[in-house]
Amino acid sequence: MLFSSTRAAFSENAAHLASFRSRKARARQRAGFDDFLRSTFQCALMFCSVAANPALRKRNIKVEGLPKGFIEKDPPVTELNHRTADHPIHSIFLERWSPRAFTGEEIIEKELLALFEAARWAPSASNIQPWRFVYARRGTDYFASLLETLDEGNQRWAKNASALVIILSKTHRQTSSGEIRPAYTHAFDTGAAWFAFALQTQLAGWHAHAMAGIDRDKAMRVVGVPEHYRVEAAVAIGRLADPATLPDDLREREKPSQRKPINEFVFEGQFRGD
Ligand SMILES: Cc1cc2nc3c(=O)[nH]c(=O)nc-3n(C[C@H](O)[C@H](O)[C@H](O)COP(=O)(O)O)c2cc1C
Repeated sequence: MLFSSTRAAFSENAAHLASFRSRKARARQRAGFDDFLRSTFQCALMFCSVAANPALRKRNIKVEGLPKGFIEKDPPVTELNHRTADHPIHSIFLERWSPRAFTGEEIIEKELLALFEAARWAPSASNIQPWRFVYARRGTDYFASLLETLDEGNQRWAKNASALVIILSKTHRQTSSGEIRPAYTHAFDTGAAWFAFALQTQLAGWHAHAMAGIDRDKAMRVVGVPEHYRVEAAVAIGRLADPATLPDDLREREKPSQRKPINEFVFEGQFRGD
């Protein structure tokens, strides 16, 4: 029973199965049936420890919410979406972009919360996690209020988003002695959380478009933010629509943008940028 379940499970991992068989064969030749039994038992134990190791099980994890075909693009890429990377990278970095043409369909809360889950696991200095997100889903009263905090230029297209988000960061933190001190990395940490959110949004088949064009004081009032918080940006989330749905000037800009070459912002040893 133990032997057959061990064998079935080992079929998932050829390397470990091969090692299992050779250990069995060696044990049979070496020291007779007793040793063989002992060796089989040891192999079963070895398998259990392998199967219980999350790192070795990783390949069997089912990833939900990926657009069809994503897995096939898992190897590094250098060209995608009219974008060319000078070094091979994961396709997600070229795939993510900030469109303005959105379908205006609704997003269910559970799906939206899964995007924030990715942000939750971003790194931050001393793990202070200074990011805060206030969201409004299309079809709720909150959506109209958040839309009004955006600059007019952003309202023109963000009105078709499925959700709007205000991203805030906590600018100060309380020390163990109760003193309120500035949190030096609050914006840096919140940027990391935003990007985790943006990548997860892309992986889930949606798009996220950040906006600095926002009335910050109004946003603070509308979402009711207390002292020691800063409005960093807003984000529109939506499903990609036909660019023809956009006004002429925006339609012309509706494509993934390009980037500076890496040697303009990466330097060995000494800063040499402008
Ligand atoms: C912090 C931040 C603020 C932005 N503000 C605006 C904005 O107010 N309006 C807008 O249309 N796009 C805005 N963008 C989108 C950028 O223009 C866009 O990310 C940039 O051109 C790179 O293009 P990509 O995201 O498609 O790769 C913003 C992006 C970021 C990260």
